[in-house]
Amino acid sequence: MKNESCTAKSPIGVFDSGFGGLTILKEIRRVIPQYDYLYLGDNARAPYGSRSFDIVYRFTLEAVRYLFGQGCELVILACNTASAKALRSIQQNDLPKIDPNRRVLGVIRPTAECVGSMTTTGHIGIFATPGTVQSQSYDMEIGKLHHGLTTVGHACPMWVPLIENKESEGDGADYFVKKDIDQLLHHDGAIDTVILGCTHYPLLLPKIEKYMPEGVKIIAQGPIVAASLANYLERHSEMEQRLSLGGGCRYLTTESAEKFGDLASIFLGEAIHPEHIDL
Ligand code: DGL
Repeated sequence: MKNESCTAKSPIGVFDSGFGGLTILKEIRRVIPQYDYLYLGDNARAPYGSRSFDIVYRFTLEAVRYLFGQGCELVILACNTASAKALRSIQQNDLPKIDPNRRVLGVIRPTAECVGSMTTTGHIGIFATPGTVQSQSYDMEIGKLHHGLTTVGHACPMWVPLIENKESEGDGADYFVKKDIDQLLHHDGAIDTVILGCTHYPLLLPKIEKYMPEGVKIIAQGPIVAASLANYLERHSEMEQRLSLGGGCRYLTTESAEKFGDLASIFLGEAIHPEHIDL
């Protein structure tokens, strides 16, 4: 692919399997609103959380190539499952061949970086999709960055469907959130910090706060990823100068635009006008 980065200004690409990345995008736009953004949700093939490594990698690479084709120089994988299962291969194997000047960043490392200063007991819990927990990406990343921390991953397969079926405020959400918190803390009662390692989960925050014992910190990723991206752009002027400064955002989905727009408004708190695309 020809690198046109010297001439064309580009939006920041933000990719998720579906809706969850909107919680990340919202925070990014709050912290650095001056840039243009292009959001892509692969809703037609979501959820990614229960899919195999190979499939998540293939789907994510297709999405990254699509966003590159739309002119994005920088793509954020605002999806923990894609960050866990596809980011490393894309960074190490694909980017050098596609275009070594473009960048793809994920959400796991910035989250892992900040837990060291938050825990007192050294015991960290991670709520995530089955795929992210199984990948052990958080455990490995936290292990690389901090010595002596204990990590416990706990999969919450019911949380995403509850949110996507507009049940995040219902009694079913109470039942499953309490059950998963109890199971995690039963496994390790010394946990004092819990990462919400799935981009959907901030929508369950009121319920999570209701059932989490006092004193246990809950880490939502949006503000962390936004601060980390702002910091990255300060340190990488060669990338920052390639970004366009319109303050706009386009929303693309592989599902029907109407369906996407309906639920997206719950994540964003505002109405949007998405467009359908095929990958
Ligand atoms: N957005 C995904 C994540 O952060 C969860 C949704 C899915 O399973 O596709 O892991």
